[in-house]
Amino acid sequence: MLSEKLHKGLNDQMNYEFYSAHAYMAIAAYCSSESLDGFANFFLVQAEEERFHAMKLYNFINAMGERAIIDGFEAPNNEFSSVLDGFKKALLQEKEVTKRIYKLSDIALDEREHATINFLKWFIDEQVEEEDMFDSIIQKLKRIENDSNAFFMLDNEFAKRAFTPEAE
Ligand code: FEO
Repeated sequence: MLSEKLHKGLNDQMNYEFYSAHAYMAIAAYCSSESLDGFANFFLVQAEEERFHAMKLYNFINAMGERAIIDGFEAPNNEFSSVLDGFKKALLQEKEVTKRIYKLSDIALDEREHATINFLKWFIDEQVEEEDMFDSIIQKLKRIENDSNAFFMLDNEFAKRAFTPEAE
């Protein structure tokens, strides 16, 4: 059993994670259109990560005896001026996710809903990793801005990224 407020908050977060997957699919499509298949793969894998996050919330809502409600959402941004711009927008997306997870954790803490507090800890740690990952790539891209060899090496490196959900 969850309070109506917490149920809604968890449900909104589930839908927002699906939206994040959409936002990353849009960046992947931009990279593909620029023939940067490694960068495209990076964002396709990231979209899978986001669907995995959404499904973690879906399963938790069910486990708490509630029903997950699937919403629609607005179209993500499809305008990018460069790969660096795509990564900068991805970092902003992650910062928004972090803000939402914190708000959700505040509700769970107010309600002393310990199962939810414990569940959300995983997301708090995950957000530290994701923001750090995007920030590091942005710094790297800025450093190699005028070095096309290094840029294509990074594209090759990202072609190898694979989705590996951790064991529950
Ligand atoms: Fe599910 Fe990248 O936050």
